[in-house]
Amino acid sequence: MDSPKSDYYKNLDEVQGILMYKDFVKYWNDVETVQARPDDVVIVTYPRSGTTWVSEIVYMIYKEGDVEKCKEDAIFNRIPFLECRSDDVYNGVKQLKQMASPRVVKTHLPAELLPVSFWEKNCKIIYVARNAKDVAVSYYYFFKMVSAYPNPGSFPEFVEKFMNAQVPYGSWYTHVTSWWEKSKNPQVLFIFYEDMKEDIKKEVLKLVQFLGRKPSKELVDKIIKHTLFQEMKDNPSTNYTIMPEEVMNQKETSFIRKGITGDWKNHFTVALNEVFDMHYEQQMKGSSLKFRTEI
Ligand code: A3P
Repeated sequence: MDSPKSDYYKNLDEVQGILMYKDFVKYWNDVETVQARPDDVVIVTYPRSGTTWVSEIVYMIYKEGDVEKCKEDAIFNRIPFLECRSDDVYNGVKQLKQMASPRVVKTHLPAELLPVSFWEKNCKIIYVARNAKDVAVSYYYFFKMVSAYPNPGSFPEFVEKFMNAQVPYGSWYTHVTSWWEKSKNPQVLFIFYEDMKEDIKKEVLKLVQFLGRKPSKELVDKIIKHTLFQEMKDNPSTNYTIMPEEVMNQKETSFIRKGITGDWKNHFTVALNEVFDMHYEQQMKGSSLKFRTEI
């Protein structure tokens, strides 16, 4: 385990005991005090759980299936990333302030860190969850891609960190279970990446209905077509290629990478899988939340 002073933690800090990228923590007061609007829709995920996929679907719903409008700008400009801050380059809170309603907001915050204003204004919240093993794999590649993130080491070393909440946004287990509890609130829709992979039409319909729109066949078909894995991988407004290479280096692996359920089988050895499963059972006991690791 790395000591708190090791190189691994150089760019990391904590908010209420939860590990986070250091530059985000520097301006935490701005995040905490952000002013929600009643018609905001918040998309919440643990990183690498399908945020971008669901974000593009929601944006398509808002733009009534107008693909050209969705391609007008990069997704991180159309849907501000609430807590994201780097001194001059990106400021999620400022972007939100300047944005006309209705706004779609992206965040990876655990339930206890979501700014209180979103609860007070009774905003709609969409939580997307993905099984822990595929998240760990995808997060591992993300660490390799983002220059400010620490070196993840070998995959087994990274998995140990993931299990011990030594990654930005902390414990996957606490994140998903606490948001699962919040989903008793009808303003919170909890959906699964695996369900989207299995039957995208059903999940798109759920989203359209949750957002109070008319689920016309034409709209649903357009959304499905525009948000196919390959479409989003090739689309500069969704694939993050607009990000400077010094920030996100997509030469070896891409932001929209494989888009499957079960890639963990190509990364976990039998022994690592056993250790992970035992730890998983312990962490998740007491929660009724169940995931599928294959479909
Ligand atoms: P993989 O790394 O397993 O391929 P996030 O947007 O939360 O960072 O999640 C990224 C993950 O979602 C990546 O997983 C990415 O490939 C996958 N993804 C993005 N768009 C997708 C799509 N249209 N269909 C399926 N998976 C998608």
